[in-house]
Amino acid sequence: MSLELPTDRLLIREWEPGDAEAALRIYGAEDVARWLTPEWHPVTGIQEMRSILRAWIEASPNLVPPAGCWAVVRGDDGALVGGLSVKQLPPFDEDFELTWALRPDQWGKGYATEVGRAIIEWAFEQGLEEIFAVARPDNEPAIAVARRLGMEWVGETEKYYGMTLQVFRLRPAGQEP
Ligand SMILES: CC(C)(COP(=O)(O)OP(=O)(O)OC[C@H]1O[C@@H](n2cnc3c(N)ncnc32)[C@H](O)[C@@H]1OP(=O)(O)O)[C@@H](O)C(=O)NCCC(=O)NCCS
Repeated sequence: MSLELPTDRLLIREWEPGDAEAALRIYGAEDVARWLTPEWHPVTGIQEMRSILRAWIEASPNLVPPAGCWAVVRGDDGALVGGLSVKQLPPFDEDFELTWALRPDQWGKGYATEVGRAIIEWAFEQGLEEIFAVARPDNEPAIAVARRLGMEWVGETEKYYGMTLQVFRLRPAGQEP
């Protein structure tokens, strides 16, 4: 499913091959990669970034909503500021998590919260009953985004990705426990 979801300042859209150079400024940054899944390392160059994007673009039509992996661009000038995804958490692929990666010079503007709110609303419209965010205990910016989105802290676990993570959850309004 091809998604194009505007917010006040941003647009969530499909990745495009032409995003590689700008995407490298996100996924090539040590400050970003260190907080992503354990197998991530900073993308080392434009060729590697192009092949990662190619894989994301090829995979996209086969993802069943609300799963997805999208680019986040500014609404006014189209500049790529981040990436956003909704994906199933390993190892059981039961729970859906929301993940963000913003270009480091774009932190502190509320962009992650803005696109998070929009994609959660969309995911709930697709029928999702709860969405999770997981963060390393010292990833204060990610934990702050989860709290800003109204997510509830549900505990600490080692069941995902083989490392200790703080777990946050949100359910649609009116369906909280
Ligand atoms: C996690 C991450 C996306 C958070 O980015 P962020 O910019 O801190 O979060 P937001 O975009 O919601 O911005 C919030 C900040 O902008 C400020 N802000 C400015 N304008 C704002 C607005 N209009 N609305 C909301 N907040 C605003 C807030 O006060 C807050 O500032 P603070 O950090 O000084 O308290 C970013 O740190 C990142 O990409 N990290 C690397 C990858 C990662 O850790 N991903 C999470 C695990 S998947």
